[in-house]
Amino acid sequence: MQADIERVLIDREAIAQRVHELAGQIVADLGPDAAVEDQEITLVPILTGSIIFVSDLIRKMPLRMQIRVMSVTSYPGRATASRGASVEAALTKLPDSLEDRHILIIDDILDSGNTLSLAREMIQKRSPESLRSCVLLRKERPEAMEAAVDYVAFDIPDEFVVGYGLDYDDYYRNLPDICTLRQEVYTR
Ligand code: IMP
Ligand code: MG
Repeated sequence: MQADIERVLIDREAIAQRVHELAGQIVADLGPDAAVEDQEITLVPILTGSIIFVSDLIRKMPLRMQIRVMSVTSYPGRATASRGASVEAALTKLPDSLEDRHILIIDDILDSGNTLSLAREMIQKRSPESLRSCVLLRKERPEAMEAAVDYVAFDIPDEFVVGYGLDYDDYYRNLPDICTLRQEVYTR
């Protein structure tokens, strides 16, 4: 696995530091009442790429919160670029009504923006008290830079990356750093 890495784009220390900082910002933006029990905060992580990010983030957010995962499929198998109308399906166990709930959607990476906009749309229909979104990475391409998002941990060049939850063909999610892969990996 290590031999497949081309270069480390963001190392584990930089990730940890930024995730800690971002958690503080999110908590601060929820306001001084955020620690009070009557605030109903629900995090909606988008599977599978956000799992490591969300697990680190929530442990830096000392708030009462619920977690409801959502699954969106956009990059089938070995694809490394968004496929047109890329979002294929969304599976969610969200309740029909999210009234009185403050929702924070969490995803690994903002690329074409399709995943996040589908997730926002599905949640908005359920009338949440507030709706924000947060991504670990945002690619420096127009669609991503123009997409609606409230929190971004890192902006990165428009390259395919893996690690810290992000996959290629469902592999490499367990790499602790965010990396690019050697070209041979894609042509195997
Ligand atoms: P979007 O819908 O095009 O914004 O893409 C978002 C989803 O595509 C992410 O949740 C990832 O699962 C996947 N994705 C996009 N870019 C990358 C990448 O560079 N590496 C791994 N997965 C990616
Ligand atoms: Mg994903």
